[in-house]
Amino acid sequence: MRVRVTMVGTGYVGLVSGACFAELGHEVICVDKDESKIAMLRQGKMPIYEPGLDELVQRNVQAGRISFSTDVTASVKDRDAIFIAVGTPTENGTGRADLKYVYAAAAEIAQATTGFTVIVTKSTVPVGTNSRVFDIAQQNVSPDARIAVASNPEFLREGAAIKDFLEPDRVVVGVEDADAAEMMERIYAPLLMHGKVPLFKTGIQTAELIKYAANAFLAVKISFIDEIANLCEAVGANVDDVARGLGFDKRIGQGFLNTGPGWGGSCFPKDTRALIATASDAGVRSLVVSSAVEANNTRKMDMVSKIVGAAGGDVKNKKIAVLGVTFKGQTDDMREGTSLVVLPALQAMGAQVVAYDPSHPHEAASLLPGVTMVTSPKDAAQDADILVILTDWMIFKAYDFKAIASVMASPVLVDLRNMLNANEAKRSGFTHYVSLGREQR
Ligand code: UDX
Repeated sequence: MRVRVTMVGTGYVGLVSGACFAELGHEVICVDKDESKIAMLRQGKMPIYEPGLDELVQRNVQAGRISFSTDVTASVKDRDAIFIAVGTPTENGTGRADLKYVYAAAAEIAQATTGFTVIVTKSTVPVGTNSRVFDIAQQNVSPDARIAVASNPEFLREGAAIKDFLEPDRVVVGVEDADAAEMMERIYAPLLMHGKVPLFKTGIQTAELIKYAANAFLAVKISFIDEIANLCEAVGANVDDVARGLGFDKRIGQGFLNTGPGWGGSCFPKDTRALIATASDAGVRSLVVSSAVEANNTRKMDMVSKIVGAAGGDVKNKKIAVLGVTFKGQTDDMREGTSLVVLPALQAMGAQVVAYDPSHPHEAASLLPGVTMVTSPKDAAQDADILVILTDWMIFKAYDFKAIASVMASPVLVDLRNMLNANEAKRSGFTHYVSLGREQR
């Protein structure tokens, strides 16, 4: 049954979720105070890069299931469920999530709702936020309206967001009001139809914590395999095979065991910091998660040493070509990417850095001052002393590395995503190939 849904905030999660709810057949309004964003969306232009999103939005606009607005008050009247998907940046210096946008949205929504409305928090918020949202809503709601709250964390990954939303491993809903629980079931009914996806209903605090625990666990898993990769290099083992061998154990699983140059992005760094802050506020030690954060910071600097080592111990006046500056492949997002640590460190040692990224991120100029961004991998490699693969763009696998190596001053490849192997690198003409957690040749 069709539900009238409003999504407050058209960032990554808000826009993808809104478009996917429309795809499920609901009537969706996406609202954002950023007029330029809404203007773009009305013209059919996406403010973020996500494969398949523009087609999805276009299809649902044409079907009359999704519309865009800057007017919060008008967009939350006569609706069944209002999702809050506004940003929760890290508060300066504290590691805590800054919730001012969430609370402001809760008050504004409550003032304008009519009838029975569920306010659902989709933003990743610390334990206790939903109960505060409920209190704020209660203080602001008009006497003839009724409000209930639900926590509905989102687990989508950038670059695979639509598939992750429409084919999730589970839907987590923290809800204590029976009518709100029924509304959440109606919203997700089209996804749950075939019985493959569990709708896991829990208490509100529990749902809030599941999201942080999930992201922290995945971050720990990656840092763990990164550490094992270092050990593999030292003892002559192969991390790709160690990871596969581990992953066959269903208790461990194959996912998130790809060693890399350290995890980044808009979620893992922010959410691990917030989990540590929440634990500290509650008087609980978070030794495991804190260690992963520390290991990840060290990991990024270790990548600098690897590159310097491949250059023979000195990068001064060397030209270093970098493939990929986003925090991972298939996205134009540079937030907390390893490039933001590694490239400035190389520049500080006197290297000249030239980079190519398939998404042409517009933030590169401001976030990586002094780095020359070029428009093809070959342009980056021209006369370079070292080529570094930094992100796991799938398209890199299809590159003609022979042609790339042939234009370099010295064909050295530092592959920080294990995209190639030593034989492939050799066949492409690289004289020296460095990767992660494998025998170095
Ligand atoms: C993550 C969570 O996966 C998602 O469930 C949550 O909703 C938001 O945070 P995202 O930040 O889009 O999603 O990226 P993800 O694919 O999880 O990668 C995070 C970081 O870990 C990236 O820097 C990536 O390169 C790194 N990573 C991931 C690895 O180094 N190895 C892996 O095996 C997986």
